[in-house]
Amino acid sequence: MKLKIGIIGCGKAAERHLKIYQTLQDKVEIVGVADINPERAKLFSNALSAKAYTDFEEMLKREPIEVVDLSLPSGLHGKVGKKILKKFRKHLLVEKPLALTLKEAYELVNLSKQYNLKLVTIFQNRANLPVIKVKELLEKGMLGNLILLSIKFYWCRRQAYYDSANWRGTWAQDGGVLAQQGCHFADMMVYLGGKIESVFARMGTFLVNIEAEDLLVGLIKFKNGALGTIEATTCARPKDIKAEVVILGEKGSAIIGGFNMNRLDYIAMEEVVNTEDLIREYKENPNHPLGYSHFVYLSSAIDFFREGLKHPFIVEGEEAIPSLELITGLYESAERGKAVFFPFRTYKCKLGKGV
Ligand SMILES: NC(=O)c1ccc[n+]([C@@H]2O[C@H](COP(=O)([O-])OP(=O)(O)OC[C@H]3O[C@@H](n4cnc5c(N)ncnc54)[C@H](O)[C@@H]3O)[C@@H](O)[C@H]2O)c1
Repeated sequence: MKLKIGIIGCGKAAERHLKIYQTLQDKVEIVGVADINPERAKLFSNALSAKAYTDFEEMLKREPIEVVDLSLPSGLHGKVGKKILKKFRKHLLVEKPLALTLKEAYELVNLSKQYNLKLVTIFQNRANLPVIKVKELLEKGMLGNLILLSIKFYWCRRQAYYDSANWRGTWAQDGGVLAQQGCHFADMMVYLGGKIESVFARMGTFLVNIEAEDLLVGLIKFKNGALGTIEATTCARPKDIKAEVVILGEKGSAIIGGFNMNRLDYIAMEEVVNTEDLIREYKENPNHPLGYSHFVYLSSAIDFFREGLKHPFIVEGEEAIPSLELITGLYESAERGKAVFFPFRTYKCKLGKGV
């Protein structure tokens, strides 16, 4: 049986989903698409032979949808997601971030548990081949106890990007580089580094005219004693440079680099002389017309919704909360001007609340 999916939000992110669903036609059927912009809904409806709606509630009332693919502006994930779970009782595949506030994220997780509905967030970089291998090496103790986890991403987003939709770069609907592009890296920080004890951050808005930040630098102390750093920016000019994770353990080191943590640039272990054989198949994501990790992640999510087969990299329910807690903590620290110790009370962080 094909999984019946309804898409809410037919924007840029959903365009990629559309192309992936077109290749998965033996597994999925898109029965409805909804966007407040009728032209976007029509574009998707034509490409997928699905009915177009401008009111997503109307679509959910009329179509036999099992799973909703939610690709709305980030600030709407919480509010609309809650409605989908509570009022319409549908499984939910939500683009990252799960929500912009911890309160809404917990509400989504609790509703999914209460109604026994699956809730998956798209953090496709967990499916990057070098990430899979380094995670495995860390878990097997091959790198020893973690000492340093350093993440740097230097990307370029100009004013035209922020002007392309009125929600981009606003505190209420998006946040800045940390919450928008950086939520993948915050997720990687907790995925590889574990629980967090405290954070300290500074941020600023340097090269574009937006409410939120385009550069944030953070210092992290993990509960396991390791230290972490994050440099998150969309201020690289004239173009994107890289996104890199440096892992130093007591018994080995690794650097996952490339444009988006997609290539293993360095690996060395005290107990393994020849690492080539160990990493051969995991060195770099292969080229894929739809984006390798996005394709693999979405296909695996579909298998999870259809058959309950959960691949270890799939981020289900509350697994999306630690990265949001890290993002909130870093913003809270930058606003307070001092370190924030976990768990913490949020009173200065503007993410999801507006100025
Ligand atoms: N996983 C990734 O790497 C990745 C990449 C890009 C974007 N995203 C995420 O995807 C989400 C969407 O981003 P985008 O770049 O596609 O944004 P976008 O602005 O291109 O698309 C959003 C769409 O939602 C529609 N919309 C807004 N309010 C609506 C409503 N109430 N009902 C129905 N439709 C409505 C808009 O008309 C628009 O077409 C964001 O949360 C973003 O963080 C994830």
